[in-house]
Amino acid sequence: MHTPFELPLLRAVTATPDTVAADLVVALYAGETADVFRPRLPVAARVEFDAALARGEMLADPGHVLVASTGAGTPGRVIVVGAGPGPLTADRVRRAVATATAWARERRCRRIAVDLTATGADVETLSAVAADAVVVANFNHGHMKSADPLPPVTEASFLIAAGQRAQLERGLVIGEAVNAARLLANEPGNVLTPRELADRAVALTNEPGVQAEVLGPDRIEALGMGLLMGVARGSAEPARLLCLTYTPPGVTSGPVLGLVGKGITFDTGGISIKPADGMERMKDDMAGAAAVIGAVRAIARLGIPRRVVAVVPTTENMPGGRALKPGDVIRGASGITVEVNNTDAEGRLILGDGLWYAKQKGATHLVDVATLTGACVVALGKVTSGLFGTSPPFVDALKRAAERAGEAVWQLPLGPDYREMMKSDIADIINSGGRAGGAITAAAFLRDFVGDTPWVHLDIAGTAWIDDVKPWATKGASGVMVRTLVELAAGDLPQ
Ligand code: BES
Ligand code: MN
Ligand code: ZN
Repeated sequence: MHTPFELPLLRAVTATPDTVAADLVVALYAGETADVFRPRLPVAARVEFDAALARGEMLADPGHVLVASTGAGTPGRVIVVGAGPGPLTADRVRRAVATATAWARERRCRRIAVDLTATGADVETLSAVAADAVVVANFNHGHMKSADPLPPVTEASFLIAAGQRAQLERGLVIGEAVNAARLLANEPGNVLTPRELADRAVALTNEPGVQAEVLGPDRIEALGMGLLMGVARGSAEPARLLCLTYTPPGVTSGPVLGLVGKGITFDTGGISIKPADGMERMKDDMAGAAAVIGAVRAIARLGIPRRVVAVVPTTENMPGGRALKPGDVIRGASGITVEVNNTDAEGRLILGDGLWYAKQKGATHLVDVATLTGACVVALGKVTSGLFGTSPPFVDALKRAAERAGEAVWQLPLGPDYREMMKSDIADIINSGGRAGGAITAAAFLRDFVGDTPWVHLDIAGTAWIDDVKPWATKGASGVMVRTLVELAAGDLPQ
């Protein structure tokens, strides 16, 4: 076993690329910004850069790396990393710095220096993003392998004004929370049971201002949560309902942000069992819970002045002699009765009770995050998370938060005709509307549990897991939505 990630020492230094103490200097190339950073390159590296540019070899393509020597002395090398043409957005900087960090790790460079002075963009935001990127690129998915993993970058220096030090700290906290979420979502089902998820969440959010409550089956039952208990019926592992309340010092009024995360620690589909092929992926069916837990950790550590209540209903979805059967009717804590026509549509069931509990706990705004539907992956691919909502101003606030966070979201419709597809003959609602519009009918189901509270549903089925290895991204859990939720908590919450 190895540590899943080590935090590098982050330094804000005013040195120049040819004098900084590091094994490797990183410059970001976004096409037209060449004029800004080029004069700062050490002379030998500038000659190589110019020659590569003249040969058409230096490209601004994301992930492209040009290696140049600085001649004698420290640091020995410079890499110029393509950051995509056009302005250096947060997302571009994150990818370029993550590419550089991964490149350094592969070559056993332990100390890197990133020249952010020369980006020609808003250094304040970019400092946080760059620090976040180094931390996230230090993650090691293979912490259960016996062989030594790639060594982490131990020291990252950022060539920026000294005043930006606080931004580096912010980026470190956010990147660390993203890594914590990734670690949770990567863990196999035998390791991360509902009990273990709740215990780790309590440990991760043991910060000033956070109060944690973990309910077991008896109390979940006593609250009338027949939807969560229904899904848990087939499992030998007891369900848990986790509730984290963050009260920042001195904040006693104003909105309460309710975050609800889907916490299925393994989804077999239940009696409506899934095909064996690819089922192992369903260990990450608690990535929504991981995002919510990571966000609470970061929000508390940053001292964001926003009251938050996070709720995670968590269970396995297993077949068994006592498991839910297609056709069963169960009743949630809100009183709504559900005809379960497909036991594989379990996420919306546990979220129904979770959303109800968050409202009970005083949430004035609700966001749920869930690996909810394969249909969302079909609609938006593995690039963009699906977004649904009832309150246009709140939807807007979330879109803006996602934009600042550099996470792609796209709104899908949610009209009354989709609710029609969820009609049951014998209960208030069925839990599966079938293949057509599957991501939308899932959202229509959740809407019944929300009432008038401003609410956004984020379907991360496609974005929670990275399959395509990229120079800036490794295969495994992505930690998606941690950053967006932190940005949302930090901004205004309109009705
Ligand atoms: N956890 C799955 C959704 C999922 C699928 C996540 C693929 C990530 C990748 C969810 O519980 C599920 O099984 N949904 C069903 C719903 C259907 C039965 C209405 C689906 O999408 O097939
Ligand atoms: Mn399922
Ligand atoms: Zn599921």
